[in-house]
Amino acid sequence: MTDETATKPEVTMEEIVALCKRRGFVFQSSEIYGGLGSTYDYGHYGVLLKQNVKNEWWRAMLQDRDDIVAIDSAILQHPRVWEASGHLEGFTDPLVQCLGKCKKRWREDHVREEQLGAADAEGEITCPECGGELTEPRQFNLMFKTHMGPVEDAGSVVYLRPETAQGIFINFKNFLQFSRRKPPFGIAQVGKSFRNEITPGNFIFRTREFEQMEMEFFVPPAEAEKWHQHWMAERMRWYTELGIRPSHLRLRAHGPDELSHYSSATSDIEYLFPIGWSELEGIANRGDFDLTQHAKHSGEKLEYFDQATGERYVPYVIEPAAGADRAALAFLVDAYDVEEVEGRKRTVLRLHPRLAPVKVAVLPLVSKEGMPERAREIFDQLRPLMQAEYDEGGSIGKRYRRQDEIGTPWGVTVDGQTLEDGTVTLRDRDTLTQERVPADELPALLLKKLSEPWKSPKLG
Ligand code: GAP
Repeated sequence: MTDETATKPEVTMEEIVALCKRRGFVFQSSEIYGGLGSTYDYGHYGVLLKQNVKNEWWRAMLQDRDDIVAIDSAILQHPRVWEASGHLEGFTDPLVQCLGKCKKRWREDHVREEQLGAADAEGEITCPECGGELTEPRQFNLMFKTHMGPVEDAGSVVYLRPETAQGIFINFKNFLQFSRRKPPFGIAQVGKSFRNEITPGNFIFRTREFEQMEMEFFVPPAEAEKWHQHWMAERMRWYTELGIRPSHLRLRAHGPDELSHYSSATSDIEYLFPIGWSELEGIANRGDFDLTQHAKHSGEKLEYFDQATGERYVPYVIEPAAGADRAALAFLVDAYDVEEVEGRKRTVLRLHPRLAPVKVAVLPLVSKEGMPERAREIFDQLRPLMQAEYDEGGSIGKRYRRQDEIGTPWGVTVDGQTLEDGTVTLRDRDTLTQERVPADELPALLLKKLSEPWKSPKLG
C-alpha cells in the first residue's frame, strides 16, 4: 500500500459502460432478445484490449522468465476431478431468498456485509430490494452442470470448469515427464471458466462466463512462504508497470474465515473500482492440497523425486489467479479521463500503449489529390508492425476524438506538406503535442516508443 492511497473512485460504472457501448468495446449479450443476465459480448476494440492484457500476462510468465511453461487444458474434465478438488462439496455460496414481495435471491454473506458491515456479522438481515424477510441460507453449488453424450442420466453428468487450475494439477505428471522441470517451476493457463454466480453484476466485474489467467507454481514445501511473497510482489509490479496507479491498488490478506477450502493463505490484489475496493486477483498458497487429493482419488503418484538428493516430496503450490475481464475493466477504469481542451470536453483513455487496442491512426487531413493515397502507403508500412487504423471520414477533430476515446496513443496526420517534403504530423494522445517527423522514420520511431517504459500521465 502506498502513502497516498486513494479513497474515492473517480469514474462511475455507468460512464465506463456507456463508453464501452459507444465505442464498441463490450455489449450486452443476446441484446436483440432482451439480453441474457450478466453475459457480455466483446466488440472489435474490446477483443483487442483483452487480447493485449492476455498477451502481457503471457509475456510476464513465459518470456520475462524461464521457469514457467504453458498449458491449454479442456474445459470439460472427468467429473471425478471436481470430487477430488473439493468443488463438488465445497464450491458453494450461501443462498437466501426473499419471502416478501420480490422473491429475489441473494448471497447471504454479501447482504450481511452491506447491512451489518461484515460478511460474518451476527444479526438480522432483510431483502435489499423490498425489505422482505429472507429464508434460512442454503449452500448453493456454483458449478454449471451438463451432460456428455446423448443420454441425460446421472452417469453422464459433467461440469463446466469453475477454475482453470485443476487442468494444471491433473497434468502435473505429464509436465514433470515431458518438460523436464524440477521445482520451483510453474504451469500457466489462460482460458474460460464458468460459475453460476448467485448475484453477478457490475458489468464485466462478475459474470457467469469469464476468462482466467492462472499460474500454478510448484515449490519445495520449505520455500512456499518465500515464493508466496515473491508472487505477491511480482503481480503488483505487473499491474503498475502496465500503468495502474499504485494509489489505486492494494494487497489485502484474507482472514481465516474467508479462505477457500484449498488455501492456507491468500492475499488479494484489490483495485479501487467504481464499486469500491474489490478483488482483482488472488494469490494463494494452496499447499499440497490439490496434488494430494488427486493422488488419492486417481491412484497416481503426484510427487517429485529428486534424483540428486534422493528426496521425494509433494510440492506446495503458489497460485497467482487473475481474471482477464476484470483486469481489462481495471485498466479501462484507471485510464478513463475527461478534460477540457480549448473550451471543449475531451474524453480520453490513457491506456499503456502496449494495452491500447490501436497503436496508431493514420489520418489524411483532407481528401486533396494524392493525400489519401500517400496516407494509405504510410498505413500499409505501419500495420505489419502494430495494430494501425486508417480513417478518412469526418472532420479531423471528430476523428481525433474517436481515437482518444479508444485510447490510441499516436495519430499521424498526412497533409499538404507531406506531399512536398515527406514529413507528417505525429500527435501524442496524452500531451497533445504535435511534431513533424519524416514519414519514413515512423516505423522505427513508433516501435521505439512502444518498447519504452510508460507512466500514467494521471500521476503528474
Ligand atoms: N484458482 C483460484 C481461483 O479461481 P478466484 O479468486 O475464485 O480463484 C481468480 O478467481 C480470479 O478470477 C479473481 O480474482 C477474478 O479476477 C476472476 N474471477 C473470479 N470469478 C469471476 C467472475 N464471476 N467474473 C469475472 N471474473 C471472475
